[in-house]
Amino acid sequence: MKFFTEENAELAQEIIGRYPKPRSAMIPLLHLAQEQEGWVTDEAMTEIAELVGTTSAEVLGTCSFYEMFKRKPVGKYVINICTTMSCALMGAGDLMKHAESRLGVKSGGSTPDGLFTLEGAECQAACTEAPCLQVNYRHQYRVTPDQFDQLVEDLASSDSDIPEHGVLSQIRQHIPADKFVGSTPPEDVVSAPVWLSEAGGQ
Ligand code: FES
Repeated sequence: MKFFTEENAELAQEIIGRYPKPRSAMIPLLHLAQEQEGWVTDEAMTEIAELVGTTSAEVLGTCSFYEMFKRKPVGKYVINICTTMSCALMGAGDLMKHAESRLGVKSGGSTPDGLFTLEGAECQAACTEAPCLQVNYRHQYRVTPDQFDQLVEDLASSDSDIPEHGVLSQIRQHIPADKFVGSTPPEDVVSAPVWLSEAGGQ
């Protein structure tokens, strides 16, 4: 049985067509797989390997390198509390304890209703806004325990515009025909793309 839905299989081909070499589409296809399922299954990695002409071991190697790709089911909302220095100094430890108690799971766990996964995370590059966290990689700044409770309530009641885990963007890349440089492998390129010469380049 195929992993990608018919619609996503078409999209996968479109994504592959954007690159001179199919293997370059591996990461976008992993994102597509995660968007479809919420996490990256073994079946998804096998199919991606077939699509881009490599081994599933190579796809696994790439997938496992990036923390944002999940290889087991996670909640609809993945909450990452930053535990690095600035946030730690500003109360991240207490916030994590509060979150564990509020959600009834330890860091790394998911709630039985499948709504939340709680994780500790390294610096989220928002150190001046400590303590901070991310929900599905969307930042929340200077979070107090009360604000955490409100956040969880809003998410549980769908009173939030944060999309479910795996959804990176609702905007798909579209390259207009006059900007498209083609899918010629770099070694076969003999002249500059049309748009460059039109822009006055070499
Ligand atoms: S230490 Fe938490 S965002 Fe940098």
